[in-house]
Amino acid sequence: MGKVLWTVTMSLDGFIAGPDDAMDWVFRYVGPNSAVDEVIQTTGAVLAGRRSYDVGRRPGQRPEVRKVEGGAWSGPEFVVTHEAPDDEEDSTITFLSGDIGDAVATALEAAQGKDVMVIGANIAQQCIDEGLVDEILICMAPLLLGDGVRLFGRPGASPVDLEPTSVTQAGQLTNLRFRVVK
Ligand SMILES: NC(=O)c1ccc[n+]([C@@H]2O[C@H](COP(=O)([O-])OP(=O)(O)OC[C@H]3O[C@@H](n4cnc5c(N)ncnc54)[C@H](OP(=O)(O)O)[C@@H]3O)[C@@H](O)[C@H]2O)c1
Repeated sequence: MGKVLWTVTMSLDGFIAGPDDAMDWVFRYVGPNSAVDEVIQTTGAVLAGRRSYDVGRRPGQRPEVRKVEGGAWSGPEFVVTHEAPDDEEDSTITFLSGDIGDAVATALEAAQGKDVMVIGANIAQQCIDEGLVDEILICMAPLLLGDGVRLFGRPGASPVDLEPTSVTQAGQLTNLRFRVVK
């Protein structure tokens, strides 16, 4: 059985998107990154939140935001939503609703022994709340975004213990990988 890995690029002040879901800042730091290459190799399926999916499809959005890892990864992608769109033509994308544990199980099965990459903060928090995330890879950008979508947290959320497993540098990004202590 593969692992469930939440992977995300984050500003030093803890944002994963700027105001109005701005993602342009991420592309200032894209370059060779062996930690990300490893994730691309080990991922067998993706589980994304509907907002992440929708931001990728906004008119005028950079094509790299539409695709997982800018198009470097391809495979079965599951998008969790309360209401599936009726205009998605990519047959590798499946819409799921309901229990988050069932969604993770579906993605793990599709991954056929490889890992499931989780995309989106809301969905990742739900997975963490349910003890479903095994590892987290944060590619930390040397930037104070100041405002936007936070990595984690909501009123009343509980602390989550993490064990650092690696720290690497890729250009200006600092890759921080953790195991979730369960
Ligand atoms: N920096 C990075 O690496 C990175 C990576 C990915 C995304 N992002 C950014 O993160 C932001 C999106 O993250 P987010 O945390 O706001 O949202 P998200 O996790 O992508 O999506 C949340 C949405 O998914 C649907 N959903 C969640 N759980 C569900 C469930 N159990 N059943 C059915 N539907 C469910 C709901 O949408 P509905 O009710 O509408 O269906 C919910 O509003 C965007 O700005 C995106 O650009 C950044």
